Amino acid sequence: MTTTDTAPPSDLRRVAATVAARIETVMRTDLETALADSDPLLVEVLHYTLFNGGKRIRPLLTVLCSRCCGRDDETLYLLATAFEYLHVATLVHDDVIDNAEKRRGQATVAARYGMPAAILVGDWLHARSMHLIGQLAGAEGLKIFCHATASMVNGEFEQLRAIGDSNATQQQYFKVIRQKTGNLIASTCAIGALFAGATTTQRQALATYGDHLGAAFQVVDDLLDFLGDPRTTGKKTGNDFIEGKITLPVLFALSTANAVDRQAIEKLIRGDRTQPEAYNRLHALIEGQNGFNTAAGTAQQLVASAINALAIFSETAQGQENVVLLKELAGYVLARNK
Ligand code: IPE
Ligand code: IPE
Ligand code: MG
Ligand code: MG
Repeated sequence: MTTTDTAPPSDLRRVAATVAARIETVMRTDLETALADSDPLLVEVLHYTLFNGGKRIRPLLTVLCSRCCGRDDETLYLLATAFEYLHVATLVHDDVIDNAEKRRGQATVAARYGMPAAILVGDWLHARSMHLIGQLAGAEGLKIFCHATASMVNGEFEQLRAIGDSNATQQQYFKVIRQKTGNLIASTCAIGALFAGATTTQRQALATYGDHLGAAFQVVDDLLDFLGDPRTTGKKTGNDFIEGKITLPVLFALSTANAVDRQAIEKLIRGDRTQPEAYNRLHALIEGQNGFNTAAGTAQQLVASAINALAIFSETAQGQENVVLLKELAGYVLARNK
């Protein structure tokens, strides 16, 4: 995997920028309404955590999936905003769990404002996103949404259980990433489709697309934790190792290494993971086993499966350009460096 310039194709770039700008406008208006008479610190922390260069991929998925199924109106952007709220809620809480210092190039909410603010702001965002989904996508939307959130929580628990465990399996890894990332991304697609009154077949196809895309997204995120440039990703490199997360490149290296190298990797995982030399040694061992390239190959396969799921749309003229954008977005997820 290379981390050279990986800008999305120009059409996608243009649409993504337009949608992101619209989402930010809707967020500002919605916050103004929802936060009337709220504590100024709550208002400050919400703005701090929401307007800071996030890629806005989840709301983009909701918008594109709804458009694929024929609906594009003002309320769609409020629905899509709910997913950015949910996503940011999970990031704020995830950074507490992962002891992260940096997010989107700035101090995490917990680092800057303290733990109580991080817990409460995450709760606020979660509540607001549920409110909006209930209002705009009804009981059926809320069911999909709550299932995805519950699954994300379970995925995080299973991840905690596997911390520092060099016997963790690839099967466990994929189960975790599907739960913690795939399901939420699938729900952004499924609810976008539901909102547009899609057929069951369309909804299922878009949910399958989101599920594979979400898994690919997490595999790439795990690669960027080793290979990314913090100035670009806005997050610290090497944090997964420090936290004891056994991600796919490590699992591949463990599975192909000879006994000596395998023991070396296990020792590093059990040892003091905060030492930069330990991280550098692990990095070299993974490289030696071609673990980064193998994991990038897995992300590629997942993206191919995501794109395959869109095949049912190929005959329909309506919304076809949005299907093309979804395919391009899948390619971008693979090539992204942030
Ligand atoms: C990060 O998501 C969390 C993961 C599920 C890996 P993004 O990479 O989409 O983060 P932002 O929203 O652009 O900051
Ligand atoms: C995040 O996974 C998944 C969530 C449910 C938020 P990571 O812990 O790898 O995400 P980053 O690297 O902190 O963004
Ligand atoms: Mg994290
Ligand atoms: Mg990560």
